[in-house]
Formats: sequence, C-alpha cells, structure tokens
Amino acid sequence: MLASEVASQIALHQPYGGVVPEVASRNHLRTLRPVVDQALKTAGVKISEIEAFAATRGPGLATSLMIGASAAKGLAVGAGKPFLAVNHIEGHLLSPFFGTDEGLRPAVGLVVSGGHTMLVDIMGLGQYRILGQTRDDAAGEAFDKVGKLLGLPYPGGPNVNRLAKEGDPARYDLPRSMIDSGDFHFSFSGLKTAVRYLLPKLEEFSLPDLCASFQEAVVDVLVAKTIAAARLAGRKVVGISGGVSCNTRLREKLGEACSRRGLELLIAEPWLCTDNAAMIGYLAALKLAAGERSPLDVDIDPGLRLS
Ligand code: KG4
Ligand code: ZN
Repeated sequence: MLASEVASQIALHQPYGGVVPEVASRNHLRTLRPVVDQALKTAGVKISEIEAFAATRGPGLATSLMIGASAAKGLAVGAGKPFLAVNHIEGHLLSPFFGTDEGLRPAVGLVVSGGHTMLVDIMGLGQYRILGQTRDDAAGEAFDKVGKLLGLPYPGGPNVNRLAKEGDPARYDLPRSMIDSGDFHFSFSGLKTAVRYLLPKLEEFSLPDLCASFQEAVVDVLVAKTIAAARLAGRKVVGISGGVSCNTRLREKLGEACSRRGLELLIAEPWLCTDNAAMIGYLAALKLAAGERSPLDVDIDPGLRLS
C-alpha cells in the first residue's frame, strides 16, 4: 500500500446525531478531487502509472456511491485503464487478510459495521456462504442508538467503548438475544429496547456501568456465534471486520475465545476496520489478478447484497 487517505465526515454530521444524505453527497463532491490528488502525492505516483480504478458499488447511500463510482469510471476512461466496481461488504470481509503473509485463505468472517452484522464462510475469492445475519439492527446501529439514548455524541460506538472501560459489565442485567437460538442469526433491537426501558426505572445510574453492561451483552453474542460458526464450518481461521471490530472488548474476548480453541484470529488495525479505500483497493487488486473487469455501464446498487 502506497497511500490511504480518508476524508472523515463525522464532525459534519455530529450536530444532526447521524448521517444526513444531502450533507454527505455535497461533501463527497467537495472532497473527492483533493483526496485523489493527496493520495497520488503521498504515493509519489502519476495518474498514468495507475493500473486500474475501483469504487464501491454498494451497499450504501445512493447519492454518495454515485459520486465515487462516477469519478472512478471517469478516471478509468481518461487514463484508458480498467474499472472495477466492488461490494462494500466484501471489502470489509476480506480486509483482515490485507497485509498478511498467507493472504486470502479459507476462514469464517464476522462483518460487524453500522449497516451489517453477518457471519460468512469464506471459501475463496467470490465464494461465500452466508451462515447468518441480523434480523433487525446491525451491531454498530445498536451501539449508535444506545449512545444516543445515553446522550453521547455521534457515533455512539467509540464513545460507549471509551466509557465502558471504567464500568462494571455485570452491574445491569441485559439480554443476550438469540444466544441459544442454535443458528447464526442475530437480533439487537431487543437489547436497545431493554436499555430504553431500564433507564426511567433507575433513580440514578452509572453511565460507565451501563455502557459496559450493554457492550458486554453485544460482545457475548458476537463471540459465542462466531466460535460456533467456525466449528460448524470446520475453519481454523477467524477474521473480523467492520467498524465494530475496533471495539476493544470484542477484540479482547474474541481473542481469548479463539486462543482457547486453537483458532487463529485475524483482526485488521483499527484504521482498516472503519470505512476506508484501502480495503476497496485490496479487493479490487485481488479481482484484477483473477482477471475480473467491470463494464462501464455497471450501475451503483444501494441495496447490494453479498452473494
Ligand atoms: O464499517 P463502518 O465504518 O461503516 C459502515 O459500513 O457502517 O462502521 C461504523 C460503525 C458505527 O456504528 C460505529 O459506531 C461503530 O462502527 N464503531 C464502534 C467502534 N468504533 C466504531 N462500535 C463499537 N466500538 C467501537 N470502538
Ligand atoms: Zn463499512
């Protein structure tokens, strides 16, 4: 990797308590060109030296995807080089292999982001079997909604994680939804509702203890199901990705659970877990090496699934 530039919009959306699509697309337009220029500068390469151009096709916000994909197509046409449209979830899924000696290999992957919570049996590039996914809220969405309930700034995830470090995870008894369901599906909306109903019943509450108790409930379910999925799929390697995989308690508990069972755990560095272009570039490079190209008329797809 020669360069990785991220133009974060967190500060812009913070006053609204969540992502505002119109604000997001305007700022994609404004920052895209400077970010491309900065990446070329950092990498020390000319645009004519780039072998291929890639962008996310989906899932995501239509008005933001459109700007990224149109720009990458334009650069590809201008430079006379191939274009690759890639799947955002697949980008997260394969990111734990980025920079590893062995590269991509069979594993069970847990994708935990603001939009997805999914367990996948990774057989090879483009060969995925979805073992289970959330029935309602994604894990990151639950963190963000509970953060909002507790009056924490957007996004809730990192703030809940920070406060939880000083808290007692056993202080409040919260549900581990679907932990014994015998499948690999998840549900987090009941946990969020449990926090909502608990709050008015408490005369006073400890914010760190509540954050720690909520976080522990999410982490317990994620760890139990990931370990069970690795056993069912007969995989010795587990890879976790997506913004929630930055969570220090998840990293700690999944790390312990994997080493107890002789499983190898691959977790990317935090900067590679939240949305970034390096994971899209890595996936595009794998596809390019496998001879894949995308036609220029391939459209964005805000609801694109992993298949
Ligand atoms: O992968 P990502 O950057 O964007 C999506 O594709 O959704 O994930 C963002 C999500 C947000 O919900 C954010 O609150 C959560 O990841 N997140 C965390 C932590 N850091 C980010 N959740 C829990 N603990 C964290 N440390
Ligand atoms: Zn993402």
